[in-house]
Amino acid sequence: MSNKSVCPWWMGYLLLIPLRKLSQNPVKILKPYIKEGMTVIDYGCAMGYFSLPMAKMVGSTGKVYCFDIQEKMLQQLSARAEKAGLTENIKPMLITAEENTETLKSTADFALLFAVAHEVENQDELFARLAGMLKPKAQLLFAEPKGHVSLKAFKLSIQKAVKCGFTQKETLEIGKSFAVLLEKE
Ligand SMILES: C[S@@+](CC[C@H](N)C(=O)[O-])C[C@H]1O[C@@H](n2cnc3c(N)ncnc32)[C@H](O)[C@@H]1O
Repeated sequence: MSNKSVCPWWMGYLLLIPLRKLSQNPVKILKPYIKEGMTVIDYGCAMGYFSLPMAKMVGSTGKVYCFDIQEKMLQQLSARAEKAGLTENIKPMLITAEENTETLKSTADFALLFAVAHEVENQDELFARLAGMLKPKAQLLFAEPKGHVSLKAFKLSIQKAVKCGFTQKETLEIGKSFAVLLEKE
């Protein structure tokens, strides 16, 4: 998958600042959708601002598959997971080949795509990949940053998701973001 202006790896540290919780609290955002024992995806996870809270939410019987195209992001994610004692259920997945998403064929219960799609050149392929990894009726929380993405561009992305087999369920209120909950048909 080709990409455009990808967030540099050092920005990964800025995404972890505690102040972010005031507008984007991972537990508040994800609690309605993630339950213990689930297999979930954090797609474009960076250093795991969302992945670690997700791992706590799925517990020891669940798994969080954390996809990214930058190895440095995943190295920091792994270091943070180790420090938090969460290596058992956090699975860093470097996207270098189709196999990485093939391993999750229709088995995931939930996916998060937060502030990632605008960095991806081929969004049709992106949503098709996500659809391929999710179970039927599984949910995808899709959010984009208001500062970087226009409402028009966000709606265009939703249209691409719909073409790939997602239905829009509801609009979500998340700080500094456009956000929707999508469901795989
Ligand atoms: C702005 S960061 C957002 C990180 C995280 N979701 C968050 O909200 O803290 C975007 C991340 O998406 C990753 N990314 C960009 N293009 C990607 C692609 N095609 N597939 C997977 N990850 C990608 C980048 O490497 C970067 O870590």
